[in-house]
Amino acid sequence: MTKSIVVLGTQWGDEGKGKIVDLLSSNVDAVVRFQGGHNAGHTLVIEGEKTVLHLIPSGILNEGAQCMIGNGVVVSLEALKKETEELEARGVDVRSRLKISPACALIMPYHELLDAAREQALGKKAIGTTGRGIGPAYEDKVSRRGLRISDLYSPGLLSEKLGNALDFHNFVLEKYFGMQRLSFDRVLDDALQLGACFSELVTDVAGELHRLRQQGKRILYEGAQGSLLDIDHGTYPFVTSSNTTVGAVCTGAGVGPSAIDYVLGITKAYTTRVGSGPFPTELFDDVGAGIAKRGDEFGATTGRPRRCGWLDAVTLRRAVHTNGVTGFCVTKLDVLDGMETIKVGTAYRLNGEQLDVPPDNPADWDGLEVQYESFPGWQQSTRGVTRFEDLPANARAYIKSMESLCGAPVHMISTGPDRVENIILQHPLG
Ligand code: GDP
Ligand code: IMO
Ligand code: MG
Repeated sequence: MTKSIVVLGTQWGDEGKGKIVDLLSSNVDAVVRFQGGHNAGHTLVIEGEKTVLHLIPSGILNEGAQCMIGNGVVVSLEALKKETEELEARGVDVRSRLKISPACALIMPYHELLDAAREQALGKKAIGTTGRGIGPAYEDKVSRRGLRISDLYSPGLLSEKLGNALDFHNFVLEKYFGMQRLSFDRVLDDALQLGACFSELVTDVAGELHRLRQQGKRILYEGAQGSLLDIDHGTYPFVTSSNTTVGAVCTGAGVGPSAIDYVLGITKAYTTRVGSGPFPTELFDDVGAGIAKRGDEFGATTGRPRRCGWLDAVTLRRAVHTNGVTGFCVTKLDVLDGMETIKVGTAYRLNGEQLDVPPDNPADWDGLEVQYESFPGWQQSTRGVTRFEDLPANARAYIKSMESLCGAPVHMISTGPDRVENIILQHPLG
């Protein structure tokens, strides 16, 4: 029986991970975030009621699941406080169910200012970040200048580390970007107060996961962003600042690779992207606008319109390899209802040569042509269908072609935003 699974995005994020994590979390004992931060926006819809989560794992609405934030996550305690309070106002008991690793890197106020200032300075070449300070916070972690959650409970150490960090960042803010310096006292006071709010939740997450595994408990690792936003494997530099692919589970939660029994790769039945960067199968016509409208494609964190295009089997095949995807969950199939023809990008052409894998050189993404295969659409509604045999024949054929073009079996299909709108062909938890 499968014990531990990873749910991650195989495109540029927003594949519908939150919905699927919420659904599967009724069958697990713990849900763990292992990378990213509150740049994520994970949407859950339960009996028509919508919840958008950013930092809190998407298992929080299932009382049987403990929720954990692993060391690989960059944490803004201000954002966490806001999200916790919003959920608690709706009667969700967050505090008794959430644990946070003391080794999480903190997102501090200067990280957010730096993120915004840099994006502005890049002008037309901006990455289109979520503006949450993610990149600067991960940089501080890697440069060994960063503050961790555990520092909040050693006031002397916190002062010293914050003093050093602020010396460095205030110099950049003031001298390079022409902005105001941040006050050491203010940042320190705020950090101490926020730390006090969460002190009881700070737990050795890696140790807790080890204990749960010894007891034979089931664990779900929840990815944020998507494989094409991975700092190493994505469309660099138009990526986020963490590893979003499966390896990050081990480093970001503190478990070994044998702790992973199954990898569920979430993909939309088409493709979307928010922010800048290459998108070979992007549509600029009414077809793309129709997908955006029917799919309600607006970012769950920033509200920005998402760019839309056809499914891209080239990047999906790569995501299958980089993540060792066991099975796909195809989401938003219903958004393709009523289309006459549906296309899938099956290969690229670069300078007259066929490419079956993504180009190595970031500069080559812009010169790509896409080779498409066309599939007949279906005119019936698939919204809310729960049995594969009840899908229109052309929808079934499309799913089957996705399997062969992308190189992994489809184990789940999502046919609407609500928790119950799914077809489960093979349950990831056995
Ligand atoms: P995540 O970041 O991967 O969790 O995805 P988001 O929540 O950012 O974006 C997915 C959007 O699609 C949300 O608005 C979901 O409610 C919605 N959604 C998820 N699955 C389906 C589906 O099968 N059909 C439709 N129509 N909407 C879906
Ligand atoms: P979920 O978990 C979609 C994108 C941003 C930008 C790039 C870098 O909801 O799928 P960052 O703020 O991380 O430095 O921005 O990454 N991005 C996302 N796009 N879904 C997300 O999360 C994203 N998180 C970051 O739009 O292009
Ligand atoms: Mg999202």
